[in-house]
Amino acid sequence: MTKTACITGITGQTGSYLAELLLQKGYQVYGLKRRSSSLNTDRIDHIYSNPNLKLVYGDLSDYSSLAGLLKFKPDYFFNLGAQSHVKVSFDVPEYSFDVDATGVIRVLEAIRQHSPTTRFLQASSSEMFGSSPPPQKEDTIFHPRSPYAVAKVAAYHAVVNYREAFDLFASNAISFNHESPRRGETFVTRKITQAATRIKLGLQDKLYLGNLEAKRDWSHAKDVASAMIKIIEADSPDDFVVASGEMHSVREFAEVVFDKLGLNWKDYVKVDPIYFRPSEVDALCGDSTKLRTTLGWKPEYTFSSLVDEMISSDLENAQKEKILKDNVCKVKQ
Ligand code: NAP
Ligand code: GDD
Repeated sequence: MTKTACITGITGQTGSYLAELLLQKGYQVYGLKRRSSSLNTDRIDHIYSNPNLKLVYGDLSDYSSLAGLLKFKPDYFFNLGAQSHVKVSFDVPEYSFDVDATGVIRVLEAIRQHSPTTRFLQASSSEMFGSSPPPQKEDTIFHPRSPYAVAKVAAYHAVVNYREAFDLFASNAISFNHESPRRGETFVTRKITQAATRIKLGLQDKLYLGNLEAKRDWSHAKDVASAMIKIIEADSPDDFVVASGEMHSVREFAEVVFDKLGLNWKDYVKVDPIYFRPSEVDALCGDSTKLRTTLGWKPEYTFSSLVDEMISSDLENAQKEKILKDNVCKVKQ
């Protein structure tokens, strides 16, 4: 019988890769999409016409739309929807908590009440470790440093509680940073690859960044999506760190990207304190031994192949932008 999966956050970076992987495996996929004033489905446009994909309007702040999804009695429910920007969470703390923490309780309650055999996976975050020094693993103490991280810690514990109290199959994928050509443009890696490729083609002069010393463990979002499937398909529910185990600073990321484009990053990157955070997470590097040894997860991408893919995609975007700009100039002449 065809298996079914619901995904919140399907229009986001990682949700789009997850949907692709599940469709490839023959799943019927139901995705929750938000109403927006302009189109927000770019990341899934290429799979939009797949007959096994159905999009349903809803929101993590709206219990009835979540309960509505559960009427499909899905085998799996992946919760990837979130206000996912750490810095923005300082500006909208209450909203971030409502969507990222209370939203998870809404989903868990909907599962408990309407479809208790549905397996649930929560997109937990390495941000929860905050100022606990690396390497971080499943039993590292949480010390959240932002409203986003506080909400993710609350959600993490709700998942564990529903597992213990109601015997739900509910797991946490504690993912470290993951990137791709589909990464939102305001996250640092994409901001760098987009700006560096535009600079290369003469479309931009400078790139303004915040804290260059922060260190992160960057994976490819597709590898993280495949880890999520392994976690939800495991024999029993549990919590797993998903990480590459390699750490690089923002400065290093910028240096590598500009270097690969034949540019010296120092000529273009400037620091603007506007991008500093009220409290920062200095260093994240995950130990994913548990996931690798018990579930056999192995990433396909390396740091270098991730960067190459992001550069090549943004270079293509910049080339299209340049052609358009040159044509407009010709028309004006
Ligand atoms: P993303 O690109 O920002 O996508 C977030 C998704 O959540 C989008 O589909 C967005 O919809 C949706 N969303 C936002 N608010 C919502 C709401 N109120 N109700 C329903 N859906 C809502 O994030 P991502 O990088 O794919 O990350 C996916 C998940 O993993 C998030 O929960 C994030 O917190 C978590 N996570 C990410 C990383 C990482 O490095 N990427 C690491 C650890 C954990 P719109 O498209 O309409 O905005
Ligand atoms: N966004 C951004 N923009 N970050 C910058 C900039 C800038 O101009 N300059 C420096 N940084 C630094 C941030 O201060 C942070 O230390 C680091 O770059 C990474 O920032 P982001 O790319 O915004 O990601 P994040 O680590 O804060 O959060 C991401 O990863 C989490 C997992 O650790 C998000 O995807 C979260 O949703 C996710 O949970």
